[in-house]
Amino acid sequence: MTEWTRICTLEDIPLLGARRVERASGLDVAIFRNSQDAVFALLDRCPHKGGPLSQGIVFGTSVACPLHNWTIGLCDGQASAPDEGCTPRFRVKLEEGVVYLDAAELHGHASDLVRPIAGPVRRPVDWI
Ligand code: FES
Repeated sequence: MTEWTRICTLEDIPLLGARRVERASGLDVAIFRNSQDAVFALLDRCPHKGGPLSQGIVFGTSVACPLHNWTIGLCDGQASAPDEGCTPRFRVKLEEGVVYLDAAELHGHASDLVRPIAGPVRRPVDWI
């Protein structure tokens, strides 16, 4: 039997937007809300070059990645052709205005994927 973890309310997710759920290990989970108040959850990592899908533009049942505009299906995490690749999807439940994630997936699913290196370049001390 699925154990569900309460995440937030539907109203906590902006319409046509997303919220990020931080995890103890692995990348964050992005929870999306579309114009029909349907809720979807994907790993917050584009299959192209790791862009933050939670900052993308939601339309229909897709999200456009903010980095290079790939379109990713919210139902299955698949990139739209001709692009290829898939972002891990998480099971999500919306019940009486409350959003839940599958507890087992939240703690284990895709938790082996590491955060891409970003931010200022780090140089070794003897670089100068
Ligand atoms: S990283 Fe998402 S389209 Fe390139």
